[in-house]
Amino acid sequence: MIQPNKSLTFTFNGESFGAIPGQTIAAALLQAERTTLRTTRFNDEPRSIFCGIGICWDCVVTVNGVSNQRSCLIEVSDGMVVKS
Ligand code: FES
Repeated sequence: MIQPNKSLTFTFNGESFGAIPGQTIAAALLQAERTTLRTTRFNDEPRSIFCGIGICWDCVVTVNGVSNQRSCLIEVSDGMVVKS
């Protein structure tokens, strides 16, 4: 199996991950088996990618200090800081 060149690095809740250029935050995290991107305000239930095309907002995260960013739409950039 060919291993993709993960030339980009970013952090998610303080943990480092690699990403392929052009890969979205959500795709990179799912590939690393991190399926919980956030939790709900009430009941603290886990949420992950649902639609994958920017419609449902289940995948929102904070990116470089900017909240409510849809991780399924934003490509990873080197050094990006992502939080739930
Ligand atoms: S998974 Fe639906 S908006 Fe990102």
